[in-house]
Amino acid sequence: MPSTVPVLPEGVDPAWLPPDAFRALGSRRTLIHGSGPLVETVHDEVTLACAQFGGQVVRDATSASYDLVLRVAGDDGAEVGEEGFLYERAAGTTTVTAAGHRGLLYGLFHVVRLGEDAFRGTRPREAHRPATALRMLDHWDNVAVHPVMGQVERGYAGGSLFWQDGRARGDTERVRAYGRLLAACGVNAVSVNNVNVHDVEAHLLTDRIGEVAQIAEALRPYGIRTHLSVTFAAPVVLGRLPTADPLDGAVRAWWAKAARGVFEAIPDFGGFVVKADSEGRPGPFAYGRTHADGANMLAAALAPYDGTVHWRAFVYDHRQDWRDRSTDRARAAYDHFAPLDGEFDANAVLQVKHGPMDFQVREPVSPVFGALRRTRVAVEVQATQEYTGQQRHACWLGPMWSEVLRFRPGGEQGLTVGELATGGSVAVSNAGDDPFWTGHPLAQANLYTFGRLAWRPDADPLRILDEWIALTFPSAPERLAAGLRAVLRNSWRTYEKYTAPLGVGFMVQPGHHYGPAVDGYEYSPWGTYHFADRDGIGVDRSAATGTGYASQYGEPWSALYESAVSCPDELLLFFHHVPYGHVLKSGKTVAQHIYDTHFEGVEEVEEARRVWAGLADLVAPARHARVAERYDEQVRGAREWRDQVNSYFLRKSGIPDERGRTIY
Ligand code: GCU
Repeated sequence: MPSTVPVLPEGVDPAWLPPDAFRALGSRRTLIHGSGPLVETVHDEVTLACAQFGGQVVRDATSASYDLVLRVAGDDGAEVGEEGFLYERAAGTTTVTAAGHRGLLYGLFHVVRLGEDAFRGTRPREAHRPATALRMLDHWDNVAVHPVMGQVERGYAGGSLFWQDGRARGDTERVRAYGRLLAACGVNAVSVNNVNVHDVEAHLLTDRIGEVAQIAEALRPYGIRTHLSVTFAAPVVLGRLPTADPLDGAVRAWWAKAARGVFEAIPDFGGFVVKADSEGRPGPFAYGRTHADGANMLAAALAPYDGTVHWRAFVYDHRQDWRDRSTDRARAAYDHFAPLDGEFDANAVLQVKHGPMDFQVREPVSPVFGALRRTRVAVEVQATQEYTGQQRHACWLGPMWSEVLRFRPGGEQGLTVGELATGGSVAVSNAGDDPFWTGHPLAQANLYTFGRLAWRPDADPLRILDEWIALTFPSAPERLAAGLRAVLRNSWRTYEKYTAPLGVGFMVQPGHHYGPAVDGYEYSPWGTYHFADRDGIGVDRSAATGTGYASQYGEPWSALYESAVSCPDELLLFFHHVPYGHVLKSGKTVAQHIYDTHFEGVEEVEEARRVWAGLADLVAPARHARVAERYDEQVRGAREWRDQVNSYFLRKSGIPDERGRTIY
């Protein structure tokens, strides 16, 4: 039997699973007990590690003593569910007990993460289980290269891992390696094509499902289920029906048949992802139906096979008149979906972007999480750095995602977003066929952090960062670990400092969204405005005088955001239009804050570049060079942002920088 463990193609970075990360595991005597497809994966992993580091692996024995016992034990361990495991160390033996074979795989990677610590001292029984059953990466990958968006929409890491030359890649070794990396951080689902389903990709659902099945087969040994983005208009474009009306009998029968075909090809298929009535995609509105009608039709087609529909809540008017100040894009998801609470079927999940706009560096948490108590909701974040530096800038998003997941829409006593998102955690993937997987090698930390936060939304992101450092650089001296921490831990806040200020968002170049253009979207139909004039800036979203968005929150948030006095500084311009002389809680005026943060942001990037340069002797040359080159671009880009933003506000307001620095 060939080993399940993929062999990485020449030159591809092992990311957080370099052979050395398996040293502690591979030098021990391990007993594996149980059966199931993933148990074979676990066996192959341990076998490979032992071959490298001199250990030994035994199957299904009873006597003798072992350093490590990995066992699937049915009832014992049942309390942690199908994917959880029990972990303990006593009398010189470390034991992982899982009720199901998936749990054993996650238990194995837990041991790998612990390294030598897994084999020291004693440890009372601990229960580990994921917070949510669905931890998914959405790939915005096109099968055919799109004339504007390319192979991967908002992709900054080369081509697609799944698709090349208009079809599924024949060689799936790399796909398996991806599945392995994902399993090691806890991800268990992947959607393999863009939410904007173009003509070619529509066919994946029917006549090209065999290609999806090949991908599913490569991901399966690592416990990853495959999902597919589908177009709501499929009955029309593929089935040649006259309508896609979700209440039409023939349309429902068409979807039922399509779902049957999918599950015949992929028995463990996860389900559909749908972007409907959003940015020009077809949807139920065309037929006078609701989004619950649309989602439930697909849920019904998937229900016989335990499939799930992930219905995206990113529904808004993208053809807005910028002169019209009463329409507020931020309101849209709540306005569309709050009235439908309770109307969605059990296997329909509403997938909600973490903020009300579009993955900006700073947004309030979407009010939809607090509003839908009778709907399964998933939280969607963007690992691909569309608005956060496009993997040319180092921007570790762990702290931002953690803030979102720990946010309590109902106040102190209420549940967190992580707890409310019972439909799962989803990230738009930042991975591609780049040798470093993510373009910027340090962006691997975002992918890893997403998986670990999806598993445990209340985990400390800084500990996850340390975990990623320890795995990726297994023999790193403290100087390297400290350097990596220094350049990453505050990189999100640094990015925020030199880009759009105080939660106002955008100010990016239209279309590709890289680099500054303060008024780039100001007179556009996209609903993303900052309203800067000579006197002030910001969007009045209060209930008293603005768009009323602030009242979509429950207490204490609606009152907090309603007033410019209580609104947190970092969100001030998201919620209020204020004069440049408005004094922030920090004691600075808005104008001075903008100048100061933009100078500081650039200084912080320059410092990070210096720190990175000083690590050259500790990092493999190719990786060091790749990151160094990205830092050059980040410094250039940050200066450009600083100078454009500062000059813009100096010219608009006429207020000089207190410190007399150069502004153009
Ligand atoms: C953003 C992004 C699009 C994407 C969309 C979505 O608007 O720019 O490329 O399609 O989000 O989430 O559907």
